[in-house]
Amino acid sequence: MKVTTLHPAFGLKIEDVNVKSLSHAERDEIIKAGNTAGIVHIPGQSLSEQEQLDFTSIFGRIRILRVNRARDSKRPPGIVEISNIDAEGKIVPPSNDMLRFSKGNMMWHSDYSYTADWAAQSILYALEAVRKGGETEWASTEAAYDALPQTEKDRLGMLTATHDRFHSRIKSGFTDFTEEDYKLTPPVPHPLVTTHPVTGRKSLLLGSHVSAIDGMTEAEAEALVAELTEFCEQPQFVYAHSWTPGDIIVWDNRSTLHRGRPANPTERRVMRRTAVFSPGVEGPEVQVAGA
Ligand SMILES: [Fe+2]
Repeated sequence: MKVTTLHPAFGLKIEDVNVKSLSHAERDEIIKAGNTAGIVHIPGQSLSEQEQLDFTSIFGRIRILRVNRARDSKRPPGIVEISNIDAEGKIVPPSNDMLRFSKGNMMWHSDYSYTADWAAQSILYALEAVRKGGETEWASTEAAYDALPQTEKDRLGMLTATHDRFHSRIKSGFTDFTEEDYKLTPPVPHPLVTTHPVTGRKSLLLGSHVSAIDGMTEAEAEALVAELTEFCEQPQFVYAHSWTPGDIIVWDNRSTLHRGRPANPTERRVMRRTAVFSPGVEGPEVQVAGA
């Protein structure tokens, strides 16, 4: 197994390994990387849905999603398919619900930050990738936090934000939620500055799910989130990944933000995503879908 740096600020690339047959030492190293490096790129893999679930479970308990109206519900529990291919294997038009829904993923976010328990790692695996565009970008919110002046760190450390799943979805044009949806994921508070449970490092928890900040007007909160997001998306804190089929990227939602970039809608694109709870978290068995 060969481990190299992915980006000066964060991330590791792990090669010469098969995630379907990990030795104990390899498994431990990958779990450690997944909890400390922010992102881990593991190229050259070939995974069935079940094999991806098996690999995902080395990081913790898998998040199972309730059937989602906007996506193909035939996937096994725990698998979210991000694709522009319909059940007949054809490319869907850009107006398709599946693509409309994924537009929310193009805004910076941390998966499931609208839940109290949040996600630890998410894992994206590329089966088919476009030749141009369709990159995923990650910003290290730890490196960005470290670069802030101390006075700003102190000020932000006092703030609490509200994360609301519907805030981000409405912004991306999705409003057809049911009463049940609202009840399943009510807005939750999170500190704006979080401490990583494994490394103890501090980072900024931002993203499209932030709907309010305590003690601020809506306009003030929006301006602060925009300003901090701009700070985080500077090139020195961002890794952009162009996908090759067989790529796995494991990322830590507690120390990064991510977003998808536009892809050519006439090219085939098939990705699978899985995610886990933080270790020791007693999350609900089944959850609503969404990033
Ligand atoms: Fe996401």
